[in-house]
Amino acid sequence: MSAAPLSSRYRTAFVTGASTGLGRAFAEMLLREGVEVWGTARDTARLAPRARFHAVALELGDGAAAERVFLAAEREAGGFDLVVNNAGFGAFGGFAATDFSLWQRQMEIMLLHTARLSHAALRGLLARRRGALVNISSLAAEFPLPYQAAYNVVKSGLSALNESLMFETEGTGVIVIDFRPGDYRTDFEGAVTRPERLPDAAQERVWAAFHRLMEHGPAPAHAAEALRRALARGRSGTVRTGRFFQAVVGPFLARFGSLGLRRRLIAKYFDL
Ligand SMILES: NC(=O)c1ccc[n+]([C@@H]2O[C@H](COP(=O)([O-])OP(=O)(O)OC[C@H]3O[C@@H](n4cnc5c(N)ncnc54)[C@H](OP(=O)(O)O)[C@@H]3O)[C@@H](O)[C@H]2O)c1
Repeated sequence: MSAAPLSSRYRTAFVTGASTGLGRAFAEMLLREGVEVWGTARDTARLAPRARFHAVALELGDGAAAERVFLAAEREAGGFDLVVNNAGFGAFGGFAATDFSLWQRQMEIMLLHTARLSHAALRGLLARRRGALVNISSLAAEFPLPYQAAYNVVKSGLSALNESLMFETEGTGVIVIDFRPGDYRTDFEGAVTRPERLPDAAQERVWAAFHRLMEHGPAPAHAAEALRRALARGRSGTVRTGRFFQAVVGPFLARFGSLGLRRRLIAKYFDL
């Protein structure tokens, strides 16, 4: 693995959701590595001014507008060597009991519009025959979270997109990283949309388990270090990161069990 700073390979980067949590940690890691970063938030007042950091206002709710914002930043940067699609949020509740508009919004923002930004980003990367596309998926792509149906759909879909693009970019000079974090201590839990009062004991127990897991998760800098290592390796692939049990033991054991057993273990893990 190269000990050279990431800036020797990636001169410019675009990171969505850089105001808090994982996105901010990714942006800070890249800045420390000498990369020039265009980082987004819906309100740029949430982005601290720093040297070599360009604040970009981006709302993923409108896919066409988000693509225009991305392309304008790409022109300003003279092309991106690295694009990290990280912005996202959680939504908790029974699938049938929750108004479908919430699930639709989550799938549009986090899957459809994120795929659209991946499409725009890949065109630029392929034209220059170098660089990396990183879509932040989740271990939820392989271990679905109870009462977060649309989130599971989004992350499975994003991982499927990443896997597909790994085939298509083979030998092009461009790499694709499917980045799957476990539970990290970020603002994510506070930003989850959920009913004010949970309707039953099962949802209360699952929410309490989710809260515990997030609260005791590693700090975002741990995920940023995993991303730094993956980018330094310079190869397409899947990165699982988080506490050892979630990122290593769980996926290892899951290889040997049936899907039914996996479901039962997830239910137990979430106190369901
Ligand atoms: N934390 C975890 O345990 C964990 C685990 C697996 C995967 N992930 C994934 O990691 C990513 C980051 O999560 P996080 O934990 O860092 O959460 P976070 O601290 O809540 O940060 C979310 C970021 O997304 C941005 N964002 C939210 N909605 C947006 C929208 N409609 N348009 C544009 N930007 C929007 C927010 O920006 P503003 O609100 O400032 O606009 C913020 O910068 C997400 O994709 C999440 O699914 C997180």
